[in-house]
Amino acid sequence: MLFIMKNFLALSFYLLLLPLLASCVQKQVYIVYFGQHGGQKAVDEIQESHHSYLFSVKETEEDAKSSLLYSYKHSINGFAALLTPDEAFKLSKMDEVVSVFQSHPTKYSLHTTRSWEFSGLEEATAENQLKKENFLLKARYGKDVIVGLLDSGVWPESESFGDEDLGAVPKTWKGICQSGHAFDSSNCNKKLIGARYYIKGYEAYYGPLNKTLDYLSPRDKDGHGTHTASTVGGRRVPNISALGGFARGTASGGAPLVRLAIYKVCWAVPRQGKEDGNTCFTEDMLAAMDDAIADGVDVLSISIGTKDPTPFTEDGIAIGALHAAKKNIVVACSAGNSGPTPSTLSNPAPWIMTVGASSVDRKFFAPVLLGNGIKIEGETVTPYKLEKKMYPLVFASRVENPNVARNVSGQCLPGSLSPQKSKGKIVMCLRGNGTRVGKGEEVKRAGGAGFILGNSKANGEELAADSHLLPATAVTYTNAVKILSYINSTKTPKAYIVPGKTMLHRKPAPFMASFTSRGPNSISPDILKPDITAPGLNILAAWSEASSPTKLADDRRVAKYNIISGTSMSCPHIGGAAALLKSLHPSWSSAAIRSALMTSAGLLNNEGKLISDASGAPADSFQFGSGHFRPTKAADPGLVYDASYTDYLLYLCSFGVTRIDPSFKCPKNPVSAKNLNYPSLAIPKLNNTVTVTRTVTNVGHIKSVYFASVKPPLGISVTISPPILSFKNIGEKKTFTITVKENKQTSDTTTKMKDKYMFGWITWTDGTHIVRSPMAVSLA
Ligand SMILES: *[C@@H]1O[C@H](CO)[C@@H](O)[C@H](O)[C@H]1NC(C)=O
Ligand SMILES: *[C@@H]1O[C@H](CO)[C@@H](O)[C@H](O)[C@H]1NC(C)=O
Ligand SMILES: *[C@@H]1O[C@H](CO)[C@@H](O)[C@H](O)[C@H]1NC(C)=O
Ligand SMILES: *[C@@H]1O[C@H](CO)[C@@H](O)[C@H](O)[C@H]1NC(C)=O
Ligand SMILES: *[C@@H]1O[C@H](CO)[C@@H](O)[C@H](O)[C@H]1NC(C)=O
Ligand SMILES: *[C@@H]1O[C@H](CO)[C@@H](O)[C@H](O)[C@H]1NC(C)=O
Repeated sequence: MLFIMKNFLALSFYLLLLPLLASCVQKQVYIVYFGQHGGQKAVDEIQESHHSYLFSVKETEEDAKSSLLYSYKHSINGFAALLTPDEAFKLSKMDEVVSVFQSHPTKYSLHTTRSWEFSGLEEATAENQLKKENFLLKARYGKDVIVGLLDSGVWPESESFGDEDLGAVPKTWKGICQSGHAFDSSNCNKKLIGARYYIKGYEAYYGPLNKTLDYLSPRDKDGHGTHTASTVGGRRVPNISALGGFARGTASGGAPLVRLAIYKVCWAVPRQGKEDGNTCFTEDMLAAMDDAIADGVDVLSISIGTKDPTPFTEDGIAIGALHAAKKNIVVACSAGNSGPTPSTLSNPAPWIMTVGASSVDRKFFAPVLLGNGIKIEGETVTPYKLEKKMYPLVFASRVENPNVARNVSGQCLPGSLSPQKSKGKIVMCLRGNGTRVGKGEEVKRAGGAGFILGNSKANGEELAADSHLLPATAVTYTNAVKILSYINSTKTPKAYIVPGKTMLHRKPAPFMASFTSRGPNSISPDILKPDITAPGLNILAAWSEASSPTKLADDRRVAKYNIISGTSMSCPHIGGAAALLKSLHPSWSSAAIRSALMTSAGLLNNEGKLISDASGAPADSFQFGSGHFRPTKAADPGLVYDASYTDYLLYLCSFGVTRIDPSFKCPKNPVSAKNLNYPSLAIPKLNNTVTVTRTVTNVGHIKSVYFASVKPPLGISVTISPPILSFKNIGEKKTFTITVKENKQTSDTTTKMKDKYMFGWITWTDGTHIVRSPMAVSLA
């Protein structure tokens, strides 16, 4: 009796509660992904089919209608909708569904740090300038190639986006210029040929956009999108500089005549105590990529990524890029700014060009003079100067309020400094937590006369030059230690910060930025990533006039050009280079363009030594991939490692992803992911021997003979078979194998190599062309 009673009670309890529960359960945005659209379906038909999937898990027709955010209708088959976890689960069990995954508010962000600069395709010598100009001329400066950017929008009034002398918009263009807050069709021109914005995912999470934080339109409030767009394809604008006259010269995008299409997908996050904040929702990015592919872009540059390892079928950028690959669109993405920690790389898919960041040969010289007469090198782009005299110098930990925690002492976090103790002094702070410009702001708040920003050990020898709000300079870790020991050595430490000055041809350059994210590839260890490196440290490019150079709340300065750093800045260099190659070789596939850029990349710095990391130690392929981009060499690579959309589907079969395209069936025994025809090679956990296959296509001389050479990783032997390839035609393909074998006799090295990658190279050369592929091998 009691038992029955209980059951009865329980039952009615649930019955009553169910409708309540259903409306209380937190609904979140999920993306339901079906792969590629099959056949020619009308837009209505597609929407209807998405609707019926939704209706099958929803209570009512209205609920199904109102929960739909986006129906992806061009290439990408899928939709984004507000679902309960239960509804999402039900959908994920349906036959046609490839994946169902949740959108996360902070998962994707723009890949910039807070510092600034520019380089374009510049290589310093006069001879190289001429070669470059010739190459640009042949590639018609990218004219009629359309580059799409997913970013924070654009500041259309920037001189970098002028359309003087540009011909009619290419006929292949099918996009639009979407109106909105402070933006209408008159803001597009023959340079900015398209502009759209995507905010449904953002608003589903944060509610309606706060119009003081951002424009509800393609207009850029942040500056980042304007910076990346002008880096890919800004016009040549003479005699521009950052605030204070730094980096004065001609600004130019990599491909100054390309047409730009802006897809705004990143929005300011409502401030929650923390300053900074931009986020980009997966569902918004997918909608943008689906449109960009249909609009007719040739290249996509996406300086966005996630730190969390995400499987390809749940990674919005990877999904969008795969569909772009089907249309031969080159997709360049930033590797991320989570270095120097290993395995921090984002955008690891092999149909993406993943770009690391390195320095250029320009410095913003602003040394510190110490009271003992010693001069310490520093860098700044701050436009303010000290009165020429010595100032009292202190380390921040000596002028802090008493309650500052030990773990952040000396870091000048907001509110940490005592105005009485800091007033009129030069205060030295260390990097760590908090932003670089925020530390300067704190010294200014406390009444400091000047500010020295010292690198922590992790930042090493790399300096990011900032436009601080007071006279300031930044010093390397070694130099920070020197200044600290000087402070220790005397009762009355004194210093003066020399006003900053731009200096070119500095050595060594390039070196890898400490922030650039590292391999190995945690999602697909068989693919070596990143692919390449390009300038990303202290890059000058156009800026939003609605922003300030530091983006600090109290910074009221307006800058038309600004210097910042990040793989966000290096990615559009590759986007621009890809656009030039597309213009030069319209028939090349996106994989061929990537191959050309990779196999022609450089390994040496301007001192003739292997590119180093920020601390001066030799860098490796988990930092620079194939090396530093050399677009003029990529124009004539000799051979390319080509791959098609079908090759990517075959590769996905080896992961058990079998349903992406209705017109494709995985073979019974999928080939190993290692055999994807990639211009680089990664072999994790080698046990004795592995043989992989590659195919090269001749794009050089009609008749040519290529010889293989190998620089094997330590403790490994590598055999190429056949070692000689003869070509008689352009477009001819030759296949070879690479056998990678562990050297048993060196058991010492073997133990050392466990879980540690060693690096080597495979090179084909015909005497004119050098076609080089990096390899990374670890032992089981
Ligand atoms: C919008 O943002 C501004 C600036 O952060 C803030 O002062 C204001 O309260 C916000 N408005 C709303 C409605 O949240
Ligand atoms: C460049 O601009 C600066 C200031 O905007 C001006 O003083 C200088 O004369 C200009 N130089 C040239 C070559 O036009
Ligand atoms: C520093 O340590 C305190 C406690 O000792 C902790 O509450 C705080 O979060 C730490 N701050 C940082 C930035 O690590
Ligand atoms: C920064 O703060 C985090 C915790 O918030 C702490 O773990 C870390 O050690 C801090 N880093 C530095 C360099 O102080
Ligand atoms: C300076 O002196 C403090 C103690 O007074 C010591 O902890 C610190 O390591 C010294 N720094 C240098 C760079 O010599
Ligand atoms: C390597 O392969 C051999 C033979 O297939 C196997 O017995 C051995 O366990 C493997 N070693 C490792 C470390 O996986």
